[in-house]
Amino acid sequence: MSETRWIHWIDGDAEHTARWHSETGMPAPRQVVPADDRVNASTAHRLTCEGTALLWQGDYHQARQLLGALGRRIDRKAPPVPSETSSANAAFHLQRRASGHRARVLGRLLVPLGADHALALRRAPDVRAACEEAYGPPRPTPSVVSLRELLGVLGAHQWRTKGLDVSAIGARIHPHYGVFSPTRGEYVDLVARAPLPHPASHGGPAFDLGTGTGVLAAVLAHRGVSRVVATDNNPRAVACALANMSRLGLTRQVEIAGGGALFPPGRAALVVCNPPWLPAKPNSALEQGVYDPKGTMLHAFLTGLADHLLPGGEGWLIMSDLAEHLGLRAPGELRAAITAAGLRVADRIGTRPDHLRASDPTDPLHAARAAEVTSLWRLTPERPER
Ligand SMILES: C[S@@+](CC[C@H](N)C(=O)[O-])C[C@H]1O[C@@H](n2cnc3c(N)ncnc32)[C@H](O)[C@@H]1O
Repeated sequence: MSETRWIHWIDGDAEHTARWHSETGMPAPRQVVPADDRVNASTAHRLTCEGTALLWQGDYHQARQLLGALGRRIDRKAPPVPSETSSANAAFHLQRRASGHRARVLGRLLVPLGADHALALRRAPDVRAACEEAYGPPRPTPSVVSLRELLGVLGAHQWRTKGLDVSAIGARIHPHYGVFSPTRGEYVDLVARAPLPHPASHGGPAFDLGTGTGVLAAVLAHRGVSRVVATDNNPRAVACALANMSRLGLTRQVEIAGGGALFPPGRAALVVCNPPWLPAKPNSALEQGVYDPKGTMLHAFLTGLADHLLPGGEGWLIMSDLAEHLGLRAPGELRAAITAAGLRVADRIGTRPDHLRASDPTDPLHAARAAEVTSLWRLTPERPER
């Protein structure tokens, strides 16, 4: 968050002001009224749908219950699930619109945080450590945040503490708030089993572009690649990957390069890239690892690859075809972009995702998800002498 924004409200005869804080980029609400345990779900739903934010001053658990009740009301009033005749594309856009609306309305239930990040509500848990991880050190002034966002911060704190088992490295990866988390293990397993190009298994370095938690860099190091240089333009990811490499004892093998460039300087025997899979608009800053409307990272990887490979080297693109099944990318478009970048496909290793949503027939996007294949594309330059 760059500039400080403020919100104002009146309580009785007194006017109040507080700093607005949103890591997801939610704009500061213009209309704020105080609310407590006396407000019912129906009134809260009406006010929040009209654009009025409720600044909670009652019991913490009541606030959570109200948030749940608001969510159920929004879901009940959501447009019907598209019929079988509707296209997957229409269903996708409807679902994105609905989830954007849901996030905006639920985001209008606000809670006060003290200058030390303490949650100033009755029966509130201690959220200070979680907030410090997500928001940075306490600031001199109290702030107001959305309860929904705060619950996300608390959830992220638990994931960070507990970690996520990654069987390909026989260890846990600890995601940080706002960093793409490898919850879908199928693509990690692809990187663990694809045949390493000869120079990478004989001392040549590898690059991991957009490393996130550092999981793929760790897999390559685990497979014996002697040196991996990983980049990410998200400072949270850089800090997270550094922390993971340190936990895993890989700091000598894996260098995490900040600075924001996609490719590190020089050339590598293997360049791995797992860009956002869906060319669609993110609903919040936290969704940027999944949605990229113009496929900027994908195209930067493809067009820069040949100039960053050592002789005999390969680029590994990790990409699901869900975008094709949802009508967000034309069939053949990815292959055309690969060819246009002067690359050829040496092999394509595919796998079916096994996450829960892929087998949920009540999901309006079920048909597309059930058909989804995640692939590792092994790419080489068309003209190796480049
Ligand atoms: C889909 S996530 C993949 C993370 C990780 N490699 C993995 O597979 O779990 C994409 C990552 O690329 C990063 N990213 C996006 N654009 C980038 C760019 N231009 N330069 C470097 N990193 C970028 C994002 O911050 C994000 O961490």
